[in-house]
Amino acid sequence: MAKKPLRIMETVLRDGHQSLAATRMRITDMLPQLEVLDNAGYWAIEAWGGATFDSCLRFLNEDPWERLKTLRSHLKKTPISMLLRGQNILGYNNYADDVVELFVKKMVEHGIGVIRIFDALNDVRNLEVGIKAGKAAGAHVQGVCVYTISPYHTNESYVKLAHDLVDRGVDSICIKDMAGLISPYAAYDLVKALKSDPKINVPIHLHCHYTSGMASMAYLKAAEAGVDIVDCALSPFALGTSQPCTESMIAAMEGTDRDTGMKKEDLYPVADYFTGVKKSLAADFGLNTAFDVSTKVLTFQIPGGMLSNLRNQLKEQGMEDKYNELLEEMPRVRADLGYPPLVTPTSQIVGSMATFNVMMGERYKIVPREVKDLARGKYGRTIKPVAEDVRDLIIGDEEIITHRPADDIPPQVEKLRAELAEKGYPNASTEDLLSYALFPEVALSFFANNR
Ligand code: CO
Repeated sequence: MAKKPLRIMETVLRDGHQSLAATRMRITDMLPQLEVLDNAGYWAIEAWGGATFDSCLRFLNEDPWERLKTLRSHLKKTPISMLLRGQNILGYNNYADDVVELFVKKMVEHGIGVIRIFDALNDVRNLEVGIKAGKAAGAHVQGVCVYTISPYHTNESYVKLAHDLVDRGVDSICIKDMAGLISPYAAYDLVKALKSDPKINVPIHLHCHYTSGMASMAYLKAAEAGVDIVDCALSPFALGTSQPCTESMIAAMEGTDRDTGMKKEDLYPVADYFTGVKKSLAADFGLNTAFDVSTKVLTFQIPGGMLSNLRNQLKEQGMEDKYNELLEEMPRVRADLGYPPLVTPTSQIVGSMATFNVMMGERYKIVPREVKDLARGKYGRTIKPVAEDVRDLIIGDEEIITHRPADDIPPQVEKLRAELAEKGYPNASTEDLLSYALFPEVALSFFANNR
């Protein structure tokens, strides 16, 4: 056994296919390999949350809660990890505290062992209720530092954020580099800063996307700096816009004091199997599952998938020639709006604002409600306040919220129950109620087919 084995969390069952196959992997695709995965020696297997919940109901005619129970019944030793979007749970709005609490309680009851919880603005107030509920339910709660680059995001700012998370009781800290921006040496320095801080006495976990081509190098330097856990995907669902590759990471560490203790040979048949799954998903859902490395993200900080969406939007308006202008407008808007990290939902907010600015030929002439809400503080605090002139322009002297945004939301569970009864489901289970809370229309059409 190595002195300090590097632990791996496997993402093939969640982020891997969310990044490379539009979150279309079905439970039936997963089942044949769960036992081998369970015995492979992973720290955890990420298999739920993120976009999978929505995808189950919307595209796969699967009940996400049933999926979780099935996963749990086959993954007997290895904790199942999930990704929670703070007060947004798995949706796109802030929910009342009672919905967050109930959701977390239910998912832990059905088998979630690790809750990774993040907020797009790194506003810990949006994580408080989720963290508390996860702890109360007995899960390992992992607090996230969403990684981005700006004049205000420094190692010191992340150490401070990690202190805030540790103060709230998290069991580990994850650096979440969703756009693949972290350079190997930045990863080394940040992990060192976190690991050498006496107050941050919890494991440090690094989550990178391969988008810019740097993630494997970042993992290596992070391993040298003492990172405890890294996220990897089995080869068919690795690289591109997904994570670095599990088998390669195992091989890279072999014989060193960070040897993972895992056997890559155990995983070859699993990888072969998932190569077939990727092909069948591409065929069944008409997906393009080949993603190239996209280095422009290093300059514009725009995730690869979003770049192609923005280009398409402009194309539809016959304004494709404005693409380069848009690329330059994005960082300007991001700076105006207080340098939010670009992750759901802030990536969409900044992206749509920049698109309007470029299409109108005048900045902030048309302003989507979400942009105004960000300026109003309804998403929480940005690391730097929204630029004063821009704020004046888009919301004038409207009041700005300085309290925790969800404080304004009254309890919702009973109201949702009444709504469901009215829609013909008076005896809906708590799980169905939660599905309905997050995705009302999608859940109702799922119920119509399945209940
Ligand atoms: Co990710």
